[in-house]
Amino acid sequence: MKSLKRIGVLTGGGDCPGLNAVIRGIAKPAISYFGATVVGILDGFEGLVEGRMRELTPKDVSGIVNLGGTILGTSNKGDPFHFPVETPQGIDILDCSENAVRNYRDWNLDALIAIGGDGTMHIVDKFTDLGLNLIGVPKTIDNDLSATDVTFGYDSAVTVATEAIDRLHTTGSAHHRVMVIEVMGRYAGWIALGSGLAGGADVILIPEIPFQWDKICQHVLKRGKHGSKFSIVCVAEGAKAAEGGLVVREQDSKRTDPIRLGGIGDVVGAKITEISGLETRVTVLGHLQRGGSPTPFDRILASKYGTKALELASEGKFGHMVSLQGNEVSSVPVKEAIVKLRTVPPDSQLIRAARAVGTSFGD
Ligand code: F6P
Repeated sequence: MKSLKRIGVLTGGGDCPGLNAVIRGIAKPAISYFGATVVGILDGFEGLVEGRMRELTPKDVSGIVNLGGTILGTSNKGDPFHFPVETPQGIDILDCSENAVRNYRDWNLDALIAIGGDGTMHIVDKFTDLGLNLIGVPKTIDNDLSATDVTFGYDSAVTVATEAIDRLHTTGSAHHRVMVIEVMGRYAGWIALGSGLAGGADVILIPEIPFQWDKICQHVLKRGKHGSKFSIVCVAEGAKAAEGGLVVREQDSKRTDPIRLGGIGDVVGAKITEISGLETRVTVLGHLQRGGSPTPFDRILASKYGTKALELASEGKFGHMVSLQGNEVSSVPVKEAIVKLRTVPPDSQLIRAARAVGTSFGD
C-alpha cells in the first residue's frame, strides 16, 4: 500500500450526472481512512494548467451524492497539450503541459484522479508517460469508452430521453404526427438505441447504421396503413444518411473535440415531410439529458468507481482506468481504453431486440 497524503481530483469534459458521487467516493475515504488531503482542481485540466484548486473538506463532499453537475467545475477546452491561449491576433493553440506538471509537483500530489471521457483519458495517458501518477474514471453520457461495460451518466441520460419519448407519444398520437427526437451521443448510438428501445420508438437512427430516406418513409407510411397514424423517430446526433455526411452545428478549435454535432433532427423532420407529406415536429433534447440528478444506478456505479479509483491509487496502479466488467469494478490500462471508441455493434442483441419488435433502423 502506498501512503497517500495528497490526492488530486478533477472532472474533465462535459458534465454528467454522477460526477459528484465519484468525487464523494474518492474524498470521503481519502480523508477518513487515509487521513489525506484532497486537492480539488477547478475546471478540469484547465485548472491544472492555470494553477487553480481548493482543498476539499468533509463538508464539501457531504450531501452531494444526488447532485448533478460537478462541484469542481469542468471544461472541454482545457487540454494541456492543446491549450487555447488568447492573443491580440486571436487564439493560439499551445502545449502548456509543463505548467500542469509544475503545478502537480508544487501541490505535492501523490496521485491525481481524473474523471472524464475519452478526451480526458488521452490526457491521462500522456501525463502517465511523463511520469505523473494518474488514475482515470470513465464518465460520459455517450457510453462510448471501450474497456468498460458502461460509463456512469449513460443510465441517467437514457432515463431522461425515455421519459421525453413517452411524452412525445401522447402528442404524436393525439395529432397524428411524426415526432422526431434528436438525442446526444457523439459518434455512438447508445443513447438513441437505449432510449428508443425503452420508449418504443418506431424508427431509431444511429451512426453505426447509415439510413436511407425512402426506408424511413416507407416504415412510417406502412404504420399509417395499419392504423397507427403517428410515429416516433429517435435520431442520434451522429446519425447519417447512407449518402450524406455528419450534420455539424459548429467547429471550435479550442475544444478537445473541435466538432460540435447537432441539427440532424431538423434535417430528418423536413425530409420525412418532403417525401411522405406527413406532418412532423422535431424536439432536440440537448443538455436536458446531461443535467439534473443521477439515477440510483449511476449513483451506485459512480460510488463504486470513486472508491475503486482511490484503492488503485493506494496500490500504485497508475496509468489505469477503473472499469466495470460484469458486476465487478476492476481496472484496465488507460492505453487499452483509448485505442478506439466503443460504438454499437450492428449485430448486437439490443439491435436484434429492437428489430424483432418492429423498429426500423432506416436500412
Ligand atoms: O460527450 C457528451 C456530450 O453531451 C455529447 O453527447 C455532445 O455531442 C457534446 O457533449 C455536447 O457538448 P457541449 O456541451 O460542449 O455542447
